[in-house]
Amino acid sequence: MIKILSKSIREYKKYAILAPIFVILEVIFEVLIPFIMSIMLDKGISLGNNKLVIEIGILMLVMAVLSLICGILSGKFASIASAGFAKNLRHDLYEKIQTYSFKNIDDFSTASLVTRMTTDVTNVQLSFQMIIRIVVRAPFMLIFAFIMAMIINWQIGLIFLIAIPFLGVTLFVLMSRSFKPFSKLFKQYDVINRDVEENLIGIRTVKSFVKEKDEYNKFANDSSILKNFASKAEQVLAWNMPIVQFTVYACLIALAYLGASNIIKGYNVSGKTLFMTTGELTSYFSYVMQILMSLMMISNIFVMITMSLTSARRIVEVLQVSPDITNPNNPIYDVKNGDIDFEKVNFKYNLNAQMFNLNDINVHIKSGMVVGIIGGTGSGKSSFVQLIPRLYDTTIGNVKVGGEDVRNYDIETLRNSVAYVLQKNILFTGTIRDNLKWGKEDATDEDLIRVTKQASAYDFIMDFPGGFDYDLGQGGVNVSGGQKQRLCIARALLKNPKILILDDSTSAVDTKTDANIRSSLRETAPDVTKIIISQRVSSVEDVDLILVFDDGKIIAQGKHDELIEICPIYKEIAELQTKGSDNEGGSTDEENK
Ligand SMILES: Nc1ncnc2c1ncn2[C@@H]1O[C@H](COP(=O)(O)OP(=O)(O)OP(=O)(O)O)[C@@H](O)[C@H]1O
Ligand SMILES: [Mg+2]
Repeated sequence: MIKILSKSIREYKKYAILAPIFVILEVIFEVLIPFIMSIMLDKGISLGNNKLVIEIGILMLVMAVLSLICGILSGKFASIASAGFAKNLRHDLYEKIQTYSFKNIDDFSTASLVTRMTTDVTNVQLSFQMIIRIVVRAPFMLIFAFIMAMIINWQIGLIFLIAIPFLGVTLFVLMSRSFKPFSKLFKQYDVINRDVEENLIGIRTVKSFVKEKDEYNKFANDSSILKNFASKAEQVLAWNMPIVQFTVYACLIALAYLGASNIIKGYNVSGKTLFMTTGELTSYFSYVMQILMSLMMISNIFVMITMSLTSARRIVEVLQVSPDITNPNNPIYDVKNGDIDFEKVNFKYNLNAQMFNLNDINVHIKSGMVVGIIGGTGSGKSSFVQLIPRLYDTTIGNVKVGGEDVRNYDIETLRNSVAYVLQKNILFTGTIRDNLKWGKEDATDEDLIRVTKQASAYDFIMDFPGGFDYDLGQGGVNVSGGQKQRLCIARALLKNPKILILDDSTSAVDTKTDANIRSSLRETAPDVTKIIISQRVSSVEDVDLILVFDDGKIIAQGKHDELIEICPIYKEIAELQTKGSDNEGGSTDEENK
């Protein structure tokens, strides 16, 4: 895991190395200060040597300033390194997600990918910043201070033999008890993030179903669970400080007692009686504090690491996925024509599922044909067409475009030749022109006019202030459903595709405009194979071939008149709709604007 994450440090490596180096310098100065202070007390103040006091005083001041500078520098380097690391990490995640297939995205869910790119990266960034400073600081402080203490008087140092193990064991117990609540806490963060994201993305639906109160209650419930886990975790950790303080004071009392008796009565070193000086005792006090504080810091690092471990794991999960749809070794860069062949195709989204979502599909479509697809909701229409631009791969069987298996093409080439207007299509923040140019970056104004006319979008675009430069707002909120669909069709046409798939793309367009779009496509793009999925028989009546889907199977295929004869389901749909159309009227989406 560390190996994968550390790849994202890259150009910030030098800062990540400089930060701990300056921390070590800072620690060295901090540890030396009590030592020279003891010299000042014993040799200077006690003996009345003012010159020495001033000299050492200046030295101490210089060291304090140096230690401060090192501290500031290490903090600066650590924050540059961690912010840079987070930037690279987000970049790497984003780049990786772009290579994901639809299936990869289904596996994670969009909300979770967003959380991973934001909250989780921030967690890892913060702990990385702490770690490169404190992970080095605490152990170095511990070791240096311990050595200095031992140099002054190793016998009193024996206090540490009791204090350090005591503190180590208690802190370890505390840490291990806080692991569980912390990992639960982070799972709950996921839940909250998911709910908030869903609510905000679907805020219009929430409002139209008057579900604000339910959503509010859901959130209140989520956050009270979060509060419980957080307080459980914090309650365990709350013992941290009192235990450290207890140990520190116990050590100070023991030190005061032993130190005082060593000063007055002296102590034995290989037969000789030595006396501890006041200066030595004073600096000893500082070392006791430094040693125990660094132990506490070490325990805090463990907490920090536990907290960010979950986040780090979630990030690595995203980075480790190998996209399941990739380019072949010797890809084909040319799609000959718009022929489409499905040969004994079976498909399921989830490999572990028992049932296939598409069963035994055999279809042959000649280049330039207009094909209509009709069938109930959930019958597999979208699943069928998604296999053509290779948004998913078949589970069994082959899908061919232009006579070649789709898996042999360069993916970009294939997807540029197969323009697929998705059922749940979206526009992006920006002007109409920006959005259309997604289809072709170097499109000229003539291109834009041509395709928008084909998609019956030109007239309403011209009615907007600014025409092509009209701002669509976030996600295209400034246009109606039917206008949005027509813009999406125009965007797809700009690719000059060999195959055009319209997945229920005119559902929000009135029947007259729908017919206009179809006839203009037939006239202006006669060589393009067109696949039109629709709920309306009227949209597919005049096509060359109609496929009737039911429960993941093609139950009949043929022309309208044939199907009326041979397919009872088709006949039933057709009859129901002709009856209904009498009262449908000609309401247009323009009126709903
Ligand atoms: N991403 C997915 N993951 C798992 N199952 C899916 C996914 N998308 C669709 N399905 C399932 O596959 C089946 C066929 O769905 P599909 O979207 O192809 O239907 P459809 O005919 O396009 O329906 P509609 O007219 O409502 O768009 C359904 O049972 C659906 O639950
Ligand atoms: Mg569908």
